[in-house]
Amino acid sequence: MKVSLATLTRSAVKADLFVAGYFKGDKDGLKALKKIDATFAKAAELAISKKRFEGKSGESFSSYQAGYRQAPEVLLLGLGDKKELKTASLRKAVGTLIGLANGRKAVKVRVLLDSFQTEALSAEEAVKIFTEISFLAAYRFTPYKTQKKDDPPKAPESVELVSEKKELVSALRPAMVRSEKIAKAVLFARDLNNEPGNVMNPPRLASEAKKLAAEKKLECKVLGLAELKKMGMNGILSVNQGSVTPPALIIMEYGKEHKDRGTVCLVGKGVTFDTGGISIKPSKGMEEMKYDKSGAIAVIATMGLVADLKLPLHIVGLAPCVENNVAADPQRPGDIIRMYNGKTVEVMNTDAEGRLILADVLSYCAEFKPMAIIDAATLTGMCHHTFGDKTCGILGTDQKLIDAIQKAGEKVGERCWQLPLWEEYGECIKSHHSDLRNTGDGYAGTITATMFLKEFVPEKTPWVHLDIAGTACCTANRFDCPKGANGFGVRLFTEVLSSWSGENVSKK
Ligand code: BES
Ligand code: MN
Ligand code: ZN
Repeated sequence: MKVSLATLTRSAVKADLFVAGYFKGDKDGLKALKKIDATFAKAAELAISKKRFEGKSGESFSSYQAGYRQAPEVLLLGLGDKKELKTASLRKAVGTLIGLANGRKAVKVRVLLDSFQTEALSAEEAVKIFTEISFLAAYRFTPYKTQKKDDPPKAPESVELVSEKKELVSALRPAMVRSEKIAKAVLFARDLNNEPGNVMNPPRLASEAKKLAAEKKLECKVLGLAELKKMGMNGILSVNQGSVTPPALIIMEYGKEHKDRGTVCLVGKGVTFDTGGISIKPSKGMEEMKYDKSGAIAVIATMGLVADLKLPLHIVGLAPCVENNVAADPQRPGDIIRMYNGKTVEVMNTDAEGRLILADVLSYCAEFKPMAIIDAATLTGMCHHTFGDKTCGILGTDQKLIDAIQKAGEKVGERCWQLPLWEEYGECIKSHHSDLRNTGDGYAGTITATMFLKEFVPEKTPWVHLDIAGTACCTANRFDCPKGANGFGVRLFTEVLSSWSGENVSKK
């Protein structure tokens, strides 16, 4: 797939599909279209007068004719009321468009950018959304699909945005380049995450991180079994005890030279498969537990992206990777482990493994003296039940940091909703025989899991936890993502890091 930007010319080589946006009752839009292709504009006018097409969002009208100027098929994409077009509705419209182009096997798509611009939504915003969503919506995961010789081409292969305003085209190019980088990082995350547990195990994930780091000139260290033992990372070790595959703690570092502007630690849960361990999960739907590595992958992909975007910050990505299995010598319910920070934990339920591996790493973050720690984890089924696959749970110790992340989420379409972290939720994670236990009383599971993590966060360090259990994958095809991993977190992390652009968090 290629997305490009050009000036509209009457003599351009024809595309397969020419697309313009159309707002309900927009006479000016039709006038503009008339200048580009009078024959098509006439057909559209007729359809509009007959109410065959009104321009409601989700609606479309197309017609096919050899004489059309830009392509044999021209399509009007309904955008609803002009005053109401928001980034979210444009995202959806672009996703719909890619679906329509795909259904028509249109390999070369040309889009009239000017027709999507409104007073509230700038051309730059439109370019960003078109670029990003074109890549995301056209994504497919195919390495395990045997290709046949006569398979149709993957459509569309190119999306060309055209504008009549020459100066706009060059002014908008940087925005397009940036959005393409972001989209490619999201696709990279999807690719890694859709890989199954028998392929993408901890050592493989570590080697993918190393490969990416070499490409993007990042530092990358992988701590293996021996090192983790030496360090006393017993949360990670105890969970991985049930697997014959060794664990890995991936540490990627970017921008050491920007240390004076502040350090941010990103932490991601990397359970490459979660059987539940001895407290085994029911078999129905268990295959989805290959996505239990989503947090780690969001962190890894973000690290590659911040290097691409050259953000002026020191960023450390940490991803503890394990397999929660019942082979080898699995941890048992009732086991008591001494964590990296010295606190003891009674393992009440081996399926509450994410918090055990994250806890060690959150404590370890102190080494980097971060001004903020943000973690992402598919941590609780409860969060999935509460928010579905549309909203991510956000909790933490620093309201300014939470607000900044929530704001970033609104902007990029990865929304977060806050749950409280009140002290009284901490009662039920105290244990009879040890300092803590790894499950609560069965209620408010997302909150009690986060209360557990809080016990391991370095003192006085602003920290936010994202529970991405619901948002990490799409349970059905969605306009911007086919069923499967969706790369959640990459855009959110990147937006919030960019928004600080080197300023100290506490000043915000
Ligand atoms: N990986 C799961 C959480 C999860 C569930 C993610 C469904 C995505 C979809 C996590 O390790 C887990 O099993 N959590 C338990 C905790 C419980 C035992 C306290 C849960 O949520 O049931
Ligand atoms: Mn689990
Ligand atoms: Zn898990």
